[in-house]
Amino acid sequence: MNPSSKSNTWNPKTYLEFAAHRTRPVEDLIPRLKLEVPGAIYDLGCGPGNVTMKLRTRWPDRTVIGIDASHEMLSDAKAAYGTQTVTWIQGDIEQWSADQPAALVFANASLHWVGEHDILFPHLLRNVAPGGLMAIQVPVTAQAPYQDCIRQVISAPKWRERLAGVHPHDDVYLADRYYELLSPQAANIDMWETHYHHILSGVEPAIAWMSGAGLVPFLTHLDGADRQAFLADYAAAMKQPYAPRSDGKTIFTMRRLFIIAKRA
Ligand SMILES: C[S@@+](CC[C@H](N)C(=O)[O-])C[C@H]1O[C@@H](n2cnc3c(N)ncnc32)[C@H](O)[C@@H]1O
Repeated sequence: MNPSSKSNTWNPKTYLEFAAHRTRPVEDLIPRLKLEVPGAIYDLGCGPGNVTMKLRTRWPDRTVIGIDASHEMLSDAKAAYGTQTVTWIQGDIEQWSADQPAALVFANASLHWVGEHDILFPHLLRNVAPGGLMAIQVPVTAQAPYQDCIRQVISAPKWRERLAGVHPHDDVYLADRYYELLSPQAANIDMWETHYHHILSGVEPAIAWMSGAGLVPFLTHLDGADRQAFLADYAAAMKQPYAPRSDGKTIFTMRRLFIIAKRA
């Protein structure tokens, strides 16, 4: 995995700038989940907690636990939603196991930050009770211009040495590989992909979007003038694929893979 990803400094305010767009996938995912067994709900990589609260609202009688490596994200979650109805835990998804088999292991837009999916995905499903669910959404970044532009900038001579050891998150696998990883333990698997064409306003909104997520390892590593110079180079690379449309808005397309696995 990206060795720096656990020490990334996330900025909840930058991340939540596009909250309405970023929560759209969970609004498509959560209604498809039917919990038929007792047990807790774990939100892995819960971030600033707004998605965790959607799980809380949908299942008010369940124990809901939000887990995230980021102190900044969890502080924001606690400040915004309190600690009465959700238990917030700072922890690493890679090291996580449920105390008791879970009714739902949920991870929205987080597992692409964690490596070793061949080990991780079967492990997460093993933590689900028989008849319970694992529900995942990950962005499919292979061939995404916003990810190609990161690779282009960090491989340029200007940044290659300065950013040695800092990497973007890995591209996720395609659906068929996840099927092979999960099917030995699954009674049923439902997988689909959606392209979200987010219509964004403002000056260089794709840069602002990426500053809240995909660029976090680099913004953690750089500061001051270096950070501004890096963002300027990234903005230059992004100019052509994310040129404003005739009305000044930007279409920022994200392909996302959804997986719901029911434990046998
Ligand atoms: C893009 S945010 C997604 C937040 C939230 N799930 C949502 O849907 O808005 C990714 C989150 O995953 C967390 N994360 C990344 N790697 C992690 C790890 N190894 N263990 C725990 N959390 C991790 C980050 O701290 C961040 O809060």
